[in-house]
Amino acid sequence: MENFKYYTPTKVVFGRGVENQVGELVKEQGCRKVLVHYGSGSVLRSGLLDRVLDSLKAEGIPAVELGGVVPNPRLSLVREGIELCRREGIDFILAVGGGSVIDSAKAIGYGVANEGDVWDFYEKKRQAKGCLPIGAVLTISAAGSEMSDSSVITNEDGWLKRGYSSDYGRARFAVMNPELTMTLPKYQTASGCVDIMMHTMERYFNMSENMELTDGISEQLIRTVKKNAEILMDEPDNYDARAEVMWAGSLSHNGLTGCGTDGGDWASHQLEHELGGMFDVAHGAGLAAIWGTWARYVIDARPERFAQFAVKVMDVEPGKDALETGLKGIEAMEAFYRRIGMPVCICDLGIDPTEEQMREMAEKCSHFRKRTVGCVKKLDVNDMYEIYRNAKGRMA
Ligand code: NZQ
Ligand code: ZN
Repeated sequence: MENFKYYTPTKVVFGRGVENQVGELVKEQGCRKVLVHYGSGSVLRSGLLDRVLDSLKAEGIPAVELGGVVPNPRLSLVREGIELCRREGIDFILAVGGGSVIDSAKAIGYGVANEGDVWDFYEKKRQAKGCLPIGAVLTISAAGSEMSDSSVITNEDGWLKRGYSSDYGRARFAVMNPELTMTLPKYQTASGCVDIMMHTMERYFNMSENMELTDGISEQLIRTVKKNAEILMDEPDNYDARAEVMWAGSLSHNGLTGCGTDGGDWASHQLEHELGGMFDVAHGAGLAAIWGTWARYVIDARPERFAQFAVKVMDVEPGKDALETGLKGIEAMEAFYRRIGMPVCICDLGIDPTEEQMREMAEKCSHFRKRTVGCVKKLDVNDMYEIYRNAKGRMA
């Protein structure tokens, strides 16, 4: 077992109607003026934005709005947000939306609290020394940004998608009403479930020793999301299924399922970020398109771990050896992806990258040959290209 640090300062307020408490929660933070940050319209259509603004008003907290965050959130809006916060004297950012909105809020927070160009942090040129305090009203169970330390932003100049992690960016509070996720299109629900499972799978496939307790939590978390994702495909208004998935989304990415390990592999995430940056695909769907190919590419480095996953998570009957059992587990996961309408190859995403584009994604993913990704196997630029090529599939 490895030494670990577990830090989750986010206050979670969970259940029906909790968004109406947001004014009180912001007030507790002792701030003077709030930026309410949101996406491309779902919170307007659902009436959530009005409820949030009413709740702030009831507590006498002045608010300025900035909408327009898109999935794979853009640096240009982050820059606009930084200017707006400085001009208006904003001292708290309330993100109302999903991972994209929360990540954009974190980036604005870094930009306001630090001098110089905010993109430096995402380029890993320097570390942030602070962040404006952030709160989140979550509308989609997926990225886990409401409790994670990370933020992922796309720079339109070169379409580079980069993540930055720092404890300063962790949300002060997360308001989670599972009912708010009932308006999600099926594809977004499924994509979110894949992402949630992957945040634990990336930690589970590691090269260190593992804690029995962490393994047990991880295996049950993935099983729970898998089961409830299938329920939600038929019953999108099932509150209990929405609640299981929503809480799993936060626990899957707040560090809990990595305790006592080396932190995990994360290659699928890094490979997917380039797909998101170049082709603007939904993040979870992009992960589903890559994962099976990645798993087959690396399984021989640690077949017994894949076998454990196959038996304990995917309910597979063991084969003649760990490799055979592990491969059956990968097939079972792909069958699950298909059942919930998720892709199992890149072409299933409705895109058809050229050789040149796959080489470009590999170059970008390797930070132009300056890094490898993953730990089960350390993948260099050539491995990355091979995985994109093997994952490509054929257009239907
Ligand atoms: O913009 P609106 O109109 O709100 O529509 C959004 C968006 O189109 C829609 N949506 C959200 N809640 C809804 C809703 N539609 C109807 N009803 C609702 N209740 O769903 C679409 C996707 O939203 P988005 O915020 O992009 O989804 P998600 O939470 O999956 O976030 C994805 C982003 O998070 C990053 C991803 O790379 C991607 O950029 N990630 C962030 C992480 C983190 N900060 O810790 C970790 C992840 O691994 C991930 O990389
Ligand atoms: Zn993710």
